[in-house]
Amino acid sequence: MSKKVLILPGDGIGPEIVREARKVLSCVNSQFDLGLEIDEQLVGGAAIDATGKPLPDETLAAARAADAILLGAVGGPKWDSIPDFAIRPEKGLLGIRSALGLFGNLRPAILYPQLAHASSLKPEVVAGLDILIVRELTGGIYFGQPRGVRIKEGGVREGFNTYVYDENEIRRIGRVAFEAARARNKRLCSVDKANVLEVTVLWREVMIELSAEYPDVELSHMYVDNAAMQLVRAPKQFDVMVTGNMFGDILSDAAAMLTGSIGMLPSASLDVNGKGMYEPCHGSAPDIAGQGIANPLATILSVAMMLRYSLAAPEAADKIEAAVSQVLDQNLRTADIMSAGMQAASTSEMGDAVLRALNA
Ligand code: NAD
Ligand code: IPM
Ligand code: MN
Repeated sequence: MSKKVLILPGDGIGPEIVREARKVLSCVNSQFDLGLEIDEQLVGGAAIDATGKPLPDETLAAARAADAILLGAVGGPKWDSIPDFAIRPEKGLLGIRSALGLFGNLRPAILYPQLAHASSLKPEVVAGLDILIVRELTGGIYFGQPRGVRIKEGGVREGFNTYVYDENEIRRIGRVAFEAARARNKRLCSVDKANVLEVTVLWREVMIELSAEYPDVELSHMYVDNAAMQLVRAPKQFDVMVTGNMFGDILSDAAAMLTGSIGMLPSASLDVNGKGMYEPCHGSAPDIAGQGIANPLATILSVAMMLRYSLAAPEAADKIEAAVSQVLDQNLRTADIMSAGMQAASTSEMGDAVLRALNA
């Protein structure tokens, strides 16, 4: 039976980077005879403009029916001033994550050796970097109730969110992280704020309980402020990091810069069965949208993750990752990863170069 891939380009640079990723997906689809059916739907600001909602019913139905989803990015200044907070582009993305139970977010920060000089850190600090951030994606302060803005006595406005995790949610993401560490270098660092927040005292307790089932994995703990500092001081000390939704959001953007650019960091968001949504970690980059200069590699590498995790096509995934490496060997660079002596490439030139490498 053929498998269905749903593509959600979204906003800003979303459609530009997804166009290149789609070319790559179509190429391996025929090269490896994968029989994938590819469909496209609206999400985010583009969906608000067309239907009034960031996640139209048709898009959610297509997402449920798909075997895997590829998303570009959502959001932008055009939609920031809509007074109803439920009608924000980001709600489209959060709505899919939540409705499909995509709790397990894998964000691998790997430095391609060719980009050691593109990182804002010294090459020796990042050379050989290969870390995995496992972020809980459907709970924590992003989804906790109650939330909102209310008027206190005296007419003072007060904004509030709730940082909550139950032990089952913690155990579920913990298992993803322990399993990942087991398949890698067997070191797991759990990142929390257990010196201040009770919710993360429980987080730490549950991680310790779980570690009894993984005696081969070395578990350590770090406060999130120190983790942010250690990521830019000596990032290679980490193998797998596991953390909650908001800390993971922040730490993964920091980790992205270790790889040269946020335009290099792919991600997978998985449910309990391995069905997933795949997206670059970056956003819609309104500052460069429409200029054809965005780096499409994070999205192309997200296609590779999709083939590996949801479409049982690991050879196709390997081939895409090797093609990306070859393109970097050819010294082609989008602006975000440019360094001395390299050749400038636009978004589509980068995508075309990956295609040439796949067809070589
Ligand atoms: P951003 O990630 O969009 O951009 C941050 C900086 O990184 C910008 O200078 C941008 O030009 C650069 N950048 C990002 N991706 C790039 C790429 N592929 N190539 C080259 N440079 C790239 O973050 P932001 O500016 O804080 O957010 C912009 C909008 O995107 C907001 O509406 C935000 O909510 C949304 N957002 C969406 C997602 C998502 O859809 N997954 C993720 C993050 C932010
Ligand atoms: C990400 C993004 C999203 C998040 C936003 C756009 C909802 O920043 O995927 O990292 O915070 O999860
Ligand atoms: Mn983010």
